Amino acid sequence: MTDVRCWTQQPHSPAGGIAPAVRLREVTKRYGKGAQAVTALDRVSVEIPQGTFTAVMGPSGSGKSTFLHCAAGLDRPTSGSVRLGSTELSHLKEAPLTRLRRGRMGFVFQAFNLVPSLTVEQNITLPLRLQGRRADRQWLTETVARVGLSERLRHVPAQLSGGQQQRVAIARALITRPEVIFADEPTGALDPQTAQDVLALLRQAVTDLHQTVVMVTHDPVAAAHADSAVFLAGGRIVTGLAAPTADRVAATMAQLRRAA
Ligand SMILES: Nc1ncnc2c1ncn2[C@@H]1O[C@H](COP(=O)(O)OP(=O)(O)OP(=O)(O)O)[C@@H](O)[C@H]1O
Ligand SMILES: [Mg+2]
Repeated sequence: MTDVRCWTQQPHSPAGGIAPAVRLREVTKRYGKGAQAVTALDRVSVEIPQGTFTAVMGPSGSGKSTFLHCAAGLDRPTSGSVRLGSTELSHLKEAPLTRLRRGRMGFVFQAFNLVPSLTVEQNITLPLRLQGRRADRQWLTETVARVGLSERLRHVPAQLSGGQQQRVAIARALITRPEVIFADEPTGALDPQTAQDVLALLRQAVTDLHQTVVMVTHDPVAAAHADSAVFLAGGRIVTGLAAPTADRVAATMAQLRRAA
């Protein structure tokens, strides 16, 4: 199977339906040239419906990070089309692409990527300041309470646990009310209980705030928090699961490893 449309409610975005938050069409990404060339993504097509939580899975080297980077405009595909809402990213120059990422996307990374010299509050509001916007105090208060950091606003990242730092990163991703939040192994550096808390926050962002979340993960338990899972192997989307359970995800991963 090469073309995976939504695994959830709106298969083909019919006229009058909701446009997907993110749409990749025939996206290929090649690194290097000649004999050294690696095809990290091979004609990947997928639509991520608004207000859904999608897990991206696959063996190591299958193209998950490349997929996320291309979908988020952090890397440019060799060919194919990536759209955020109705905006085609491949036509954008670097400056408008950066503006678009700051204003319309949120990011959560395995390594938290907080600014060590800034307080929790300053880290959370950084995406707004970079856009010359002020924080809406009510939304800031609500977001900080949602991630359980109301008592920590004046602390710096070094004074926080890993789980707390990742909750700062989630608040930072939510503060702009982005069209999509991209998360690359957000629980990769956390113990299972802390990971569970972080996943619950991402889940709530989708269920309560109608955010769209796309999360790369190795972990079947993490993927089970999503509405759907797509599986990459050798740079292609090979299958998907709606309402994934940890057992079904683990079984699909085992099947892919056997096939490889
Ligand atoms: N900058 C690069 N230059 C050359 N090859 C690259 C580069 N980035 C990724 N690749 C190759 O592209 C393929 C896909 O890599 P990618 O990092 O997307 O995989 P992944 O599924 O995220 O793996 P992991 O689970 O180990 O993080 C791999 O073969 C990798 O070696
Ligand atoms: Mg990766």
